[in-house]
Amino acid sequence: MTSTSQTAGDVRDLALAEHGKRKMEWANQQMPVLQLIRKRFIKEQPLKGVRLSACLHVTSETANLAVTLRDGGAEVVLCASNPLSTQDEVAACLVKDYSIPTYAIKGEDNATYYAHVNAAIDHRPQITMDDGADLVTTLVTKRTDLVPGVIGGTEETTTGVIRLRAMANDGTLKYPVIAVNDALTKHLFDNRYGTGQSTIDGILRATNLLIAGLKFVVAGYGWCGRGVAMRAKGLGADVIVTEVNPVRALEAVMDGFRVMPMCEAAKVGDIFVTVTGNKSVLSSEHFERMKDGAVVANSGHFNVEIDIPALEKLSSARRPARPFVEEFVMKDGRRIYLLGEGRLINLASAEGHPAAVMDMSFANQSLAAEYLVKHASELERKVYPVPEAIDRQIAKLKLESMGIYADRLSPEQEQYLASWSEGT
Ligand SMILES: NC(=O)c1ccc[n+]([C@@H]2O[C@H](COP(=O)([O-])OP(=O)(O)OC[C@H]3O[C@@H](n4cnc5c(N)ncnc54)[C@H](O)[C@@H]3O)[C@@H](O)[C@H]2O)c1
Repeated sequence: MTSTSQTAGDVRDLALAEHGKRKMEWANQQMPVLQLIRKRFIKEQPLKGVRLSACLHVTSETANLAVTLRDGGAEVVLCASNPLSTQDEVAACLVKDYSIPTYAIKGEDNATYYAHVNAAIDHRPQITMDDGADLVTTLVTKRTDLVPGVIGGTEETTTGVIRLRAMANDGTLKYPVIAVNDALTKHLFDNRYGTGQSTIDGILRATNLLIAGLKFVVAGYGWCGRGVAMRAKGLGADVIVTEVNPVRALEAVMDGFRVMPMCEAAKVGDIFVTVTGNKSVLSSEHFERMKDGAVVANSGHFNVEIDIPALEKLSSARRPARPFVEEFVMKDGRRIYLLGEGRLINLASAEGHPAAVMDMSFANQSLAAEYLVKHASELERKVYPVPEAIDRQIAKLKLESMGIYADRLSPEQEQYLASWSEGT
């Protein structure tokens, strides 16, 4: 591991820092709630002396979070939560200009990825901040000596929360974790509007296709999937949804989308996007049915939603077609285009979510870290929700930053809603 300056870290090139700084400043302008929290943190120092390791997508928004945590007194170390999502210029800036040790290089191989996760763990964290649970799982399986020093953790995404709940159920989870993803001000906005917009952005930057008139298949109608479907529809696509949950399939139907099994959708789709958090959602039986020129992309957390080994097996040749687009030629001559190696396309070929939406996600992260410092001793080895008061406070601050004010209940209305006897 190369030490890139006085500050430890492993980044592509410190000379990129100036570009990274401008990107961070641009993002910061769109993050008013985080700015307010940072101001308070500077005064109150709620994280003073706390060693915090964060495994997050290293983007300009994350950099502003890392600086907020540091300004709140934490000793922060950052590593990437995905090999393709790092913005090298931002990683350079964090090391050079903010002295935050950062271990992240866009395109790093698997071994380097885990070396970076372990470098973040070498920091002996008292708080872990995860996006996908790689810090927690590495700690409890391979770095068990450091587990007793951890007071708690936070988790950013749906897939991470699912993994953590499974760990809590079988007793593997060794410290409390706050499910930031489950805060309303997180998933209703980040997953829906953030993933919705940035997934389309990633597909457009990679392919420059005209979306209007295309048959656009979205696998999974969860918070992310409905965002992607909504935005694809807005661009004029004929959107088809596939689902396994009948309630969500019904929602998709009533939102105006066609719903069908993937085996049917495979025959007609021009673009396929998986956002399920599941594996092999697109597999051999689907690739075999796809039209010549079909484009497949993933926006779910792990690169297992598209069965890439199956695609490789079915193909006779492959070559890069454009940056982030790989052409697979099937044995019968059809071509299938895989975007971004099947990794989160919004972060692989675009810049991830817009800062304005990450403002709320990272406000939740900051306040959840503060909450852990105050309350960890009262918590068990479980997955906890973000306290409702934090969620509401973030929504209120976000609205105010937009110059929008919601109504308040009158005392009579409060009484009416709290009582069962009125209205009879
Ligand atoms: N790209 C990003 O930046 C980003 C942002 C947030 C979340 N995520 C990730 O996206 C994934 C989805 O997150 P979410 O919040 O929408 O989760 P969710 O649980 O709200 O939705 C997932 C949906 O997929 C459906 N599903 C599961 N298996 C399926 C299958 N085989 N075929 C069709 N549908 C299937 C489920 O029934 C569910 O409705 C997760 O991996 C999450 O971590 C990515």
